[in-house]
Amino acid sequence: MANVIVIGTQWGDEGKGKITDLLSRSADVVVRYQGGINAGHTIVVNEQVFKLHLIPSGILYPQTDCIIASGTVVDPEILLQELEQLRKVGVSTDRLFIAETAHVTMPYHRLIDKAAEELRAEHKIGTTGRGIGPTYTDKSERIGIRIIDLMDTDLLRKRLKWAVEQKNIILERLYNLPPLDPQEVIDKYIGYAEQLRPYVVDASLKIDEAIRKRLNILFEGAQGTLLDLDHGTYPYVTSSNPVAGGACIGAGVGPTMIDRIIGVAKAYTTRVGEGPFPTELKEEIGAHLGDRGAEFGTTTGRKRRCGWFDGVIGRYAVRINGLDCLAITKLDILDELEEIKVCTAYELDGQIIRDFPSDARAFARCVPIYETLSGWQQSTADCKELSDLPSAARDYLKFLADLMEVPIAIISLGASRGQTIIVEDPIHGPKRGLLSATF
Ligand code: IMP
Ligand code: MG
Repeated sequence: MANVIVIGTQWGDEGKGKITDLLSRSADVVVRYQGGINAGHTIVVNEQVFKLHLIPSGILYPQTDCIIASGTVVDPEILLQELEQLRKVGVSTDRLFIAETAHVTMPYHRLIDKAAEELRAEHKIGTTGRGIGPTYTDKSERIGIRIIDLMDTDLLRKRLKWAVEQKNIILERLYNLPPLDPQEVIDKYIGYAEQLRPYVVDASLKIDEAIRKRLNILFEGAQGTLLDLDHGTYPYVTSSNPVAGGACIGAGVGPTMIDRIIGVAKAYTTRVGEGPFPTELKEEIGAHLGDRGAEFGTTTGRKRRCGWFDGVIGRYAVRINGLDCLAITKLDILDELEEIKVCTAYELDGQIIRDFPSDARAFARCVPIYETLSGWQQSTADCKELSDLPSAARDYLKFLADLMEVPIAIISLGASRGQTIIVEDPIHGPKRGLLSATF
């Protein structure tokens, strides 16, 4: 048995979708533990492209149970569309399970998300506008509607009528928007509830059953470490906990049940939305990475900001998540560069620091200190083994592993499943410190 958490080490979009897809092959259960439809995974299987927001990519394997756990926020409309998209191409959705305690994103959450961003003007966060923050706000405020509440039609009618009336006060008086029709929302959500009913379970119990059977469970994080509500670049973060610790809370399992934690890092850095980004490249090379890496959001289509690999952030992610090993993605995007920089420290107010500053204002003043490595200027797209990689590419990877003091177990060189080098089996290989990623 191995229970594994896969998380993003940067600002999301590290290519977790591909890595979890790869690891799902040997998983019996895949659990999504936080976030909602702000996430977007693009998976390419036999040249067929799947864009999923909520359903774990493990659904593409016939043996894998997929659980949308308690810590997520579920937008029924989008979830039902995803189910339809899968069914259309013959993918069975019988193995999907949704936690009855997950909270539900409502139409007013989306409206409030967008209106609040507009009102924040130059203080805006750059959210995906999918209602994520307002759904989690209602959860913390203890006025949210959960999947289990959807399942009780009489209760739902009462709760939703009250909720829409409350939110209408905010929509009308604060944001100057037209009110929602409570009846319309009620009818719509009763319809959704009926379609979702067969999938609803006690998710923590279901996961426990899998643990007792000693099955392999993969906990799939959405977003990334620096978007974590507690440990990210607050306030430019999402409203949930993408870090590894979030898996235990979101899924309802104890920390002792976790065997491995794998961090996914892009070979460079990207960020969508507002907030400081020390290694951002605003000129030519940034644009090159963006074009070559197709750096547009899966969910919003927004252009991602691109920059050099940031080792300070990398080391922080290792610490906050307790990473056992790394999966480095999109190495091929660097193929054409003559030289490649890696940020190894920051200069902050005249001092050199190697640790990530938890104060966002200090972080915004950090100037990266770079080490320059030589590029390899040849294609890596078809490399199947570590030894196929040009030596400069291996040097680059070794530099990253040494900087972060964590071995690299997987290297991804393209979107398809085959374009991957498994350096060491991250699940069944030896644990951190013993993993011998040799380059
Ligand atoms: P929210 O999650 O929609 O509230 O957005 C908060 C911040 O997180 C914004 O900067 C978003 O761009 C960012 N964000 C949310 N989800 C993702 C994701 O899946 N990938 C990358 N950035 C994300
Ligand atoms: Mg994404």
